Order: sequence, then structure tokens, then C-alpha cells
Amino acid sequence: MQVGTPAPDELLKVAVEIVRQAADTARRMRAEGVSGIATKSTATDVVTAADRAVEREVVATLRSLRPGDAVLGEEYGDSDVAVSGGPGVVRWILDPIDGTVNYLYGLPHYAVSLAAEVDGQVVAGVVRNAATGDEWTATRGGGAYREGRRLRGSTETDLGQALVATGFGYDAARRTHQAGVLNRLIAHVRDIRRYGAASLDLCMAAEGLVDAYYERGLNLWDHAAGGLIATEAGLRVGGLNGAGPGPDLVIAAPPALFGPLHDHLARCGATDGP
Ligand code: IPD
Repeated sequence: MQVGTPAPDELLKVAVEIVRQAADTARRMRAEGVSGIATKSTATDVVTAADRAVEREVVATLRSLRPGDAVLGEEYGDSDVAVSGGPGVVRWILDPIDGTVNYLYGLPHYAVSLAAEVDGQVVAGVVRNAATGDEWTATRGGGAYREGRRLRGSTETDLGQALVATGFGYDAARRTHQAGVLNRLIAHVRDIRRYGAASLDLCMAAEGLVDAYYERGLNLWDHAAGGLIATEAGLRVGGLNGAGPGPDLVIAAPPALFGPLHDHLARCGATDGP
């Protein structure tokens, strides 16, 4: 990190302040009723007025607090030309509402997720369930926390006893392939959970509320903050065959479960589909 680049805990402070405000906006707008619904990649991939309003609010606050930083957001993409920045430039990665379908239905499981990345590495992240106020944070090298409690993930070592969270994309062909993979995996794990917000899945894995998580097709804003939180809780976060976490696959699991889950997913052709 260069001279002038804030330390991860300073970036986390900024992120937490912004995310709390943004989560209040999301919750208030939900209470007033969902509006401005439009679709994106498919007929079931929705965006609401709240997704857009929260992203605009976060970007405006970042602009005033940290004018030289770049921002990548789910709804508006790269909001600045300085995006890739130079060495030491901070890039914020935002999912204004992760779990938009839960938000749409009023299921209290949707989150604002904000990560700070420097030189291609996420160094600070916060995920806040906007409906409940539960909040998870991490800084690179500084550990992962929920309300002051250090997180260490699950101690499960047997995949057959593992509760595994996953998710599905919005595209029908991808969902069909994902269901096929799940169909082959389900006999080898305790059970499966599908909560509908990837950032929260990663935080739940960090906390040990589920033993592991995997999903194909995630975008960076879905896993940037949650991935750091899981990593800092001691989980291994990656893709297949040594790849980093990315659109092909994100697996987050305690070290003892990562190998067996990875190998099952590889056998099931988890990255072979659309
Ligand atoms: C989605 C959620 C969901 C996951 C999808 C994501 P969005 O994000 O995280 O759990 O399965 O892959 O796209 O659209 O609610 O921001």
C-alpha cells in the first residue's frame, strides 16, 4: 500500500458509516412499498427504485468523503474514469441491495455490501442485513467480526455432516445446470440451504451458521465484502483447481471441508455449464 492510502481499518470505518445509512434507506423504502420495478438480464432478475436510490446515495457520500476513489456498483457499473486507478487508489465495490428478490417479497434477508479494494486486493468489507441490522465486518489481516465477536467459521470436518448454502443465477439454462450439480451433490452433504443473498451466505459461513457455501455465476459485488469476511474467519475462499473466487465458481469452506467439497463440485461439472 502506498503512502497516502488509508489503512484498512480507516477504510472499514468509512464503509460501516456509509452502509448503515444505506441500509436505513433500503429498509425505509421497503416499508413504504416497493416501487420502480424493472428487469435486467432475464424476466426474474429485477431491480427496484431502492437498488438505484441506495447506490446513488452511497456513491454521492463516497464522492464527498473520498473524492479521489473509484466506485464499482451493481446498478450503474464503474462510476468514474479513474476506476482502475493507479497504484494505491481505493476502489469501492458495492451491492446496494443483495437479495433483491427477498427484498421484493418482503423476506427479511437482504443486505447492503461494500468492500474497499486496493491494488486488486479487497482490504476491508462490511455486509449489513438491512432488514434486521445484523452486521459483519472484516479487514485484511485483522479478522472478521459480528458485533464485536470474532468469527472463526465452522469446525465441521466431515462433508457428509455439512450444511451447505448455495444459490442460483437468473438465467434458466444456468439454473437448470446448477440444479443438476446440486442433484448430484445433495446425497453427499447433510443438507442444502438457499437463502437468496450471496453476501449473507458468505457471512453465515464465516460465522458457522452454515458449514460451507458455493455458487457459480456471482459478480464481484456479490462476493467482494463477504469473501473477505469468510477468509478472515479462517475459511478458504476460491474456485476450482487453484483459481481465485470469480464468476466461474466461489467456494467458501473451512480448510477441512474445502478439498472434499471442491472435488465433489469438480466431479459434478460445476463449472461446465452456462
Ligand atoms: C443475487 C443473490 C442471490 C444469488 C444470485 C445473485 P442480487 O444477487 O445474491 O443469492 O444466488 O446469484 O445474483 O441480484 O439479489 O443482487
